[in-house]
Amino acid sequence: MQNFINKLQSSLNDGSFVKLTLSKPKANSQQPAADLRNVYVKPIILKNEKMFSFTYRYERRDETKNYDAEQTLEVINQLVPNVFLNASLFTLTEDITLLISKKGKATVMSKAVKEQREQNVQHDKVKNRLINTDNPWWFKLGLTTREGKVTADMQHKFKQICKYVEIVDGVMKNVKFDGKIRIADMGAGKGYLTFALYEYLTQRCKYDIEMEGVEIRPDLVVKINEIIKESNLKDFRFVESSIDSYQLSAVSCQQPIANSQQPTANSQLDVLIALHACNTATDDAIIKGIEYGAKLIICAPCCHKQIRQEMEKSGKIDVITRYGIFMERQAVMITDTIRALILEYFGYKTQVMEFIEMEHTPKNILLVGRKSDAPVDKKAILYQIEYLKNQYGIEKHYLEKIFLD
Ligand SMILES: C[S@@+](CC[C@H](N)C(=O)[O-])C[C@H]1O[C@@H](n2cnc3c(N)ncnc32)[C@H](O)[C@@H]1O
Repeated sequence: MQNFINKLQSSLNDGSFVKLTLSKPKANSQQPAADLRNVYVKPIILKNEKMFSFTYRYERRDETKNYDAEQTLEVINQLVPNVFLNASLFTLTEDITLLISKKGKATVMSKAVKEQREQNVQHDKVKNRLINTDNPWWFKLGLTTREGKVTADMQHKFKQICKYVEIVDGVMKNVKFDGKIRIADMGAGKGYLTFALYEYLTQRCKYDIEMEGVEIRPDLVVKINEIIKESNLKDFRFVESSIDSYQLSAVSCQQPIANSQQPTANSQLDVLIALHACNTATDDAIIKGIEYGAKLIICAPCCHKQIRQEMEKSGKIDVITRYGIFMERQAVMITDTIRALILEYFGYKTQVMEFIEMEHTPKNILLVGRKSDAPVDKKAILYQIEYLKNQYGIEKHYLEKIFLD
């Protein structure tokens, strides 16, 4: 154990540290939480200082914390072997694995690194540029200059796009698709994220996909379809429609599955995406995803007006919501918790994760639902929804209309 810690310490001090992964959580470990699965550590530069970014991966969410070298060593010392039994340290010259047996016996194995290895110290970095900004559509969409350089005022959007592609790709890799993957992007707006995903999945991953962007604003739909046509992108289109009246227009698809509570054996949509679709448009998108039997539903909710208004109308103020800013945050959490619960009700294993750091957008929560065959305690879920609504004087969450369909 000390041997491993010494190697970690020298890699942190001499700058050869590349990354560290902690795995195999100890059975019954409650520290820092029972559902902590992994911790990933990587170097980053923050305000010109070298720091170490810790990603704590819990069952249904990620949490990031940054520490300096000294704190990093302290935190690792607390986590191994108390919480994790395995640690893999990657340095510029050596890969070192620490395995701790149930009886507490530590084994350290190391292997010299033959290849030239690089450190990646970019904060919120994007590995190898997931998006090729030389593609002509990026200029046409207004993200880049004619030469493919991201313009100064689109830097934030570009970061968001890359992060989004990275997340969706990671999530899609864990889902089994057969044949062509049908994707609908609800409230697609100016199309940045729709193009990014289309480009990544077709050009980088070589997937066979059919992509539809759904947008209510006709001017945007016309403009984007022109760009798609000029760029000769196949199986890609924007359709003018409100989300709730959207019908899958792909040739291969017929009608929505009549009863949304049916399993998805004959699902017609593989992936439903809705990023920052306003207020209850996110709920309409979730309903479409469930109705069409999507294997994956990914939403980044936008404003949460409906529940906030209900909470205010009820006059039920508690010790938290009497503070205006917490009322706002509570409304956000309740809105999205009930969304997650309803997804679970319909058989979606749902994760809530951070989309991108708060500095880029305050709307940074991503709900990811993966269709699963695991049995669901629907009664318990309905009870939890009712409990939340009662506590905050909410009459109805908009998404509950799915129960009436
Ligand atoms: C904030 S933008 C997000 C655009 C894009 N998804 C993104 O994240 O960059 C929301 C878009 O959803 C569209 N929208 C809002 N409500 C809609 C609805 N009910 N049906 C279809 N589109 C809708 C708006 O016109 C707008 O273009």
